[in-house]
Amino acid sequence: RSLKIGMLPADGIGREVLPGAKAAILALGSSIPKMEFIDLLAGFEYFTKTGTALPDETVQILKSECDCALFGAVSSPSRKVTGYSSPIVALRKKMDLYANIRPVKSVSINPEGRPGVDLVVIRENTECLYVKQETQTVGEHGKEARATRLITERASRRIGELAFKMALERPRKHLTVIHKSNVLSITDGLFRETVRAVPTLPGVDGKYDDVTVAEQLVDSAVYRLFREPEIYDVMVAPNLYGDILSDAAAALVGSLGLVPSVNAGDSFVMGEPVHGSAPDIAGQNIANPLAAIRSAAMMLRHIGYGDGADRIERAVDSVLREGKVLTPDLGGKSKTSEVVDEVTKRI
Ligand code: NAI
Ligand code: MG
Repeated sequence: RSLKIGMLPADGIGREVLPGAKAAILALGSSIPKMEFIDLLAGFEYFTKTGTALPDETVQILKSECDCALFGAVSSPSRKVTGYSSPIVALRKKMDLYANIRPVKSVSINPEGRPGVDLVVIRENTECLYVKQETQTVGEHGKEARATRLITERASRRIGELAFKMALERPRKHLTVIHKSNVLSITDGLFRETVRAVPTLPGVDGKYDDVTVAEQLVDSAVYRLFREPEIYDVMVAPNLYGDILSDAAAALVGSLGLVPSVNAGDSFVMGEPVHGSAPDIAGQNIANPLAAIRSAAMMLRHIGYGDGADRIERAVDSVLREGKVLTPDLGGKSKTSEVVDEVTKRI
C-alpha cells in the first residue's frame, strides 16, 4: 500500500518546520512502503502573488489523491485584506476536518514548565465565530460591527462523541466541557447540553460509564489551567475557546514550538503544529521543528501507522530528555536543522 502525503508549508516558519516533519517520516524508511510527498500551494504569500490563498487545485488534489496531509502555518494579517481569507480555516471546512486535537504534555527539560501537565484540547473546528460572517454598518452612534456565532447540534454532537471516545482511551478518563453558557445560554448552552448528552445517545449503551464528566466556564478554565493544570485530562470546547485554551496550555509546557495537532474528519486527517508563522523568528533557521514533527507522528497514528508514530515520538522525547540539542525557545542554541538531524538519527 502506498502513502501519499500532501505537503502545505504555506508561510513563515511553516516552510522551515515542515521539511523537518518530512525528514522524520522519511527516516522511518521501509516500514512505510512507497511514500510520496505532494507539494501543494497555499498561504498569504501565495495570495499576494496570485489573489487566492487556497487554489482549488490544492483542495482537489488533497481530496482525490492524498491519504493525509501536513500543514505548516499561515501568516494571516490582522488588518482586513480585501479578497483574503485564511486558507487553514477554509481547509478545515472544505475537507470537513471537524475536530482539532491538541495534546499538551509536560517535558522534563523545562525547569520553569509545570510538571504533571498531560491534557488534550479537543477544539470544534468548523463553526463558532470562525464562520466569519461579519458585517459593519453605520448606526446612530457611529460604526457598528457584528459577527454571527454558529453552534449546531450536529457539530457539537460529533465533537462530543470524539471527546468521550478519547477520554475513554486515556488512563484518567476525565472529560471537561468548556463553555460560557452562564452568559451565552443559547449558543454555548446548546454546545454544553449536546456534549453532555452524548452518553445518553441511542446505541451508546453505557459505553462511557467510566468517563467522569466535569464542566468549566472558559474564563475560570484558563485560571485553573495556570493554577492547577493537573486537574485536566480531555477538554472539549467550541472553536474560539479551544484555540485560546490550547495556546495557553502550550505556555505551561514551555513553548508553542512543542505542541502538535491534527485536524481530523471522518475520512481525512491533516497534521498541523499549533503555532503560527512566527514572523519574529522566520528565516533564521531557529524555529522549533518538534511541534511539526510530532504533528506528523499524530497524523501517521491516525491513519494506522502507530508503530511509525511511536518511533518518531520516542525520538522526540529522547532529544527533549537529553536536552542538549534544543532551539532557543527551549533555552538551547541549536538550529532547526540540527534538531531535525538529531531526531532523524534517533529514529
Ligand atoms: P505565532 O504562533 O506565530 O507566534 C507566537 C510566539 O511564539 C512568537 O514569539 C513566536 O516566535 C513563538 N513561536 C511560535 N512557534 C514557534 C516555534 N516553532 N519555535 C519557536 N518559537 C515559536 O503567533 P502570532 O505571532 O500571534 O501570529 C503570527 C502569524 O501566524 C499571524 O499572521 C497569525 O495569523 C498566524 N497564525 C497562523 C496559525 C495557523 O497557521 N494555523 C495559527 C496561529 C497564528
Ligand atoms: Mg491558535
